[in-house]
Amino acid sequence: MTQARLPIVVIGSGVAGMATALAAAPAPVRLLCRASEGSASAMAQGGIAAAVGEGDSPAAHAEDTLVAGAHHNDAAAVRWLCDVAPATVAWLAEQGVVFDRASGGHLQLGREGGHGMHRIVHAGGDATGAMLVQALQARVEQASHVQWRGDADVDALLLRGDRVAGVRIRDAQRRHEEIEAALVVVATGGIGALYAHTSNPPGADGSGLALALAAGAEPRDLEFVQFHPTALAVEGHSLPLLTEALRGAGAHLYDGEGRPLMADLHPLGDLAPRDVVARRVWAVRQQGGSTWLDATPIEGEWERRFPTVLAACLAHGLDPRRERLPISPVAHFHMGGVATDLDGHTSIPGLYAAGEVACNGVHGANRLASNSLLEAVACGRRLGAALAKVPVLQAGGTHRWIERGASLPAEGLPALRELLWRAAGPVREAGELRDAWQVCTAAADGAWQMRLAQALLRAMRLRSRSLGAHWREDHGCPA
Ligand code: SIN
Repeated sequence: MTQARLPIVVIGSGVAGMATALAAAPAPVRLLCRASEGSASAMAQGGIAAAVGEGDSPAAHAEDTLVAGAHHNDAAAVRWLCDVAPATVAWLAEQGVVFDRASGGHLQLGREGGHGMHRIVHAGGDATGAMLVQALQARVEQASHVQWRGDADVDALLLRGDRVAGVRIRDAQRRHEEIEAALVVVATGGIGALYAHTSNPPGADGSGLALALAAGAEPRDLEFVQFHPTALAVEGHSLPLLTEALRGAGAHLYDGEGRPLMADLHPLGDLAPRDVVARRVWAVRQQGGSTWLDATPIEGEWERRFPTVLAACLAHGLDPRRERLPISPVAHFHMGGVATDLDGHTSIPGLYAAGEVACNGVHGANRLASNSLLEAVACGRRLGAALAKVPVLQAGGTHRWIERGASLPAEGLPALRELLWRAAGPVREAGELRDAWQVCTAAADGAWQMRLAQALLRAMRLRSRSLGAHWREDHGCPA
């Protein structure tokens, strides 16, 4: 009697999860997601960086990636990513993504902070992430090897011997279901939602990272969190992003007195690296001042180039074509995560990771703009293709469940978010990191969010000097 092939379980249905699932054909895949909220992929306003323009090269793209990452990157991984970027864009076009083109028919190339060339391709203007998600979702729906399941919060991993061999999911009614798997891929995104203000959706709370760490997976570079300088400063937790491309198109930053915010601070002014601008916006606001983005110099074509920004501002009663916009920094992207190689292997047999939750070293200490969707797609495809060839091992040995642990009650989340915002934000200092770590350590036998925050703060304390997005105000004081 032939035994049914166990599925590959992919946790997370953003771009990384879908690219992995599609590339794993013909192996059966169960693609699990936590329903209600959208993914960070769908909210991504930046595009995809790829050296497709005249005079550009993957080597130049790689150099910009290494400079942005403060050379903390894995240089071989960076070279690979930049080499496959043009083919990744071509593959996405084959999947149905319609990239923005100039009148001559060639890809329209934008430029963002840190790039020495125009090399960012967009789809639907500032709606690239949403366009990718739409196209890949359509492919997933057509793919007979992929079974999609929503309303599935994975709260435990099954281990047989030393190998991950399944997951336990919980639905909104708190009903549990166990799924045996050939292997498990974590593609759950970042940790932005653990902060008081973020560009990420509420589901980007590090649940997959917490689960992998609970199972003993090795972490890497947890201290590196990127803050975006320009989100719309309105009430709320998940704030609308005002893409950096607005500044690329002529928008400028001001303080509350109407003075240029970046004057004399950096040769690139308003287009200084993201972390430099974020710290400036943070500092002014910490001193009680206000910070503004003036996008009124951008003429015409708002509906085509910036439909997402326009709609978000109008929804808050603000018209970016006519008035200045209040801005705040937000937690945006986690460079650190579960340590993997380029094939997505974690330190635990049977457990893989892809996308923002993984740390394979491509981003170093600070991610270059528009390299995140690129990495999610390219690494997801590479991982899926490799998994399709992995022989399905008959899992043996004693089995045990590794639980993520209880969740913090909803009323406890705002305090943790404020704690991380204050101590683990764009500007950090030894005493505040220590105090925050002590708070989380005292509560770490409780909720998984506290244990994860403890791990993040520990990494931030250990790196006592500034590097990339990790800015230590005390520059080397003992932690
Ligand atoms: C942006 O559009 O400003 C963000 C793009 C990115 O995070 O790469």
